[in-house]
Amino acid sequence: MSLRLSATTPETPTEATDGTWLECIECAESYAPFEDVRYTCDECNGLLEVRYDEPPTFDEFEGEGVWRYDAALPLESGVTTQEGATPLYEVPRLEESVGVEALRIKHEGMNPTGSFKDRGMTVGVAVARKLGVDRLACASTGNTSAALAAYGSRADMETLVLLPAGKVAAGKVAQASLHGARILEVDGNFDACLDVVQELAERGEAYLLNSLNPFRLEGQKTIGLEILEGFQADYGVWPDRIVLPVGNAGNTAALYKAFRELVQADELEPEDVPKLTGVQAEGAAPMVEAIENDADEVRRWEEVETRATAIRIGNPVNAPKALPGIRETGGTAVSVTDGEITEAQRDLATEGVGVEPASAASVAGLRKLRTEGVVGDDERVACLTTGHLLKDPDAAAAAGNDPEPVPADTKGVLEHLEN
Ligand code: F0G
Repeated sequence: MSLRLSATTPETPTEATDGTWLECIECAESYAPFEDVRYTCDECNGLLEVRYDEPPTFDEFEGEGVWRYDAALPLESGVTTQEGATPLYEVPRLEESVGVEALRIKHEGMNPTGSFKDRGMTVGVAVARKLGVDRLACASTGNTSAALAAYGSRADMETLVLLPAGKVAAGKVAQASLHGARILEVDGNFDACLDVVQELAERGEAYLLNSLNPFRLEGQKTIGLEILEGFQADYGVWPDRIVLPVGNAGNTAALYKAFRELVQADELEPEDVPKLTGVQAEGAAPMVEAIENDADEVRRWEEVETRATAIRIGNPVNAPKALPGIRETGGTAVSVTDGEITEAQRDLATEGVGVEPASAASVAGLRKLRTEGVVGDDERVACLTTGHLLKDPDAAAAAGNDPEPVPADTKGVLEHLEN
């Protein structure tokens, strides 16, 4: 295993506050965490990461939900609606048909606003409050906007969301709308929205809560911590592999960071770190391209298309954090067709697990990798399903059964059922 996954103790810089600081992943420049608003390195524009002088240990975790893991977070409490503690479902028929030793579904759609984004927002919005900013903003394929709107309103702050016009599922727009965000419908794709909102943030117009924000990813680490604890509780072992849908690659980066910190704390052996396995839609697969070509950088795709609108992203901003995560854990990345995504969405639905299309990509990807022999039949696997079925009611209705019109009398209904 590589150096990054080794147990080395970081040196605490003078900029640290209570043992916490921000560090550039490229040039290692360090910054005080809560003094100025900063998303990237002043010196080299590299991505920033939150660092701690004391990595977390399992015995420090107590309570339920994201804040159970405060020892792994930059604050002790946040703006909360009881996010986290999501189910790790057994899916015996799917496990059998995919053909692995064990398959569990970590259903992040069971969070308060119906996606994993809540885990990042409970931390990110609390940091925003600590920094004293008054306006929050994000670009979004939908779920981030729903979570930001909810957590922003809970914190009594103004929120601004930039959405690609016509490409956001109905449930998500409805959430952002009712929670009181100002919704700017941009004539362009998600990547264009992110370009604009980054410029607004750089001009000080708003505090950016996309996954470029290092504090948000701290909250998302708790997905990985819950999966590890869940596998230990149920099987007494760590999972061999975690399969997840990839858009901006924030979760991939966050899970990798969670595991690295446990390795640092001697809580997890480097060889026990689950293989991070990313799945993208064929029409938006720049990370898969980079993994397949063994490239150091990800090429931005200008044209992207997929029914899984949540991951309709051509420029994964967290790639510099996520590519090493996939490579150093021995994972991989794979793309799937929209048809395979819909099939997987139906498969999950037959087990009673309702997810939006992007989420089903994880299961579609696992099936493909199992068929190709990349995933072994002896593996214990967790698939991450990132958003709830009701996020995208149109996709669910299109993938499911059509309603059958019947007359309003029992005889007529019985006749219809016999036909
Ligand atoms: N699944 C769902 C349901 C998502 O909403 C997203 C991202 C992802 C997967 C990809 O996660 O970016 O960490 O690789 N949605 C963002 C949004 C872009 O705006 O809601 P990632």
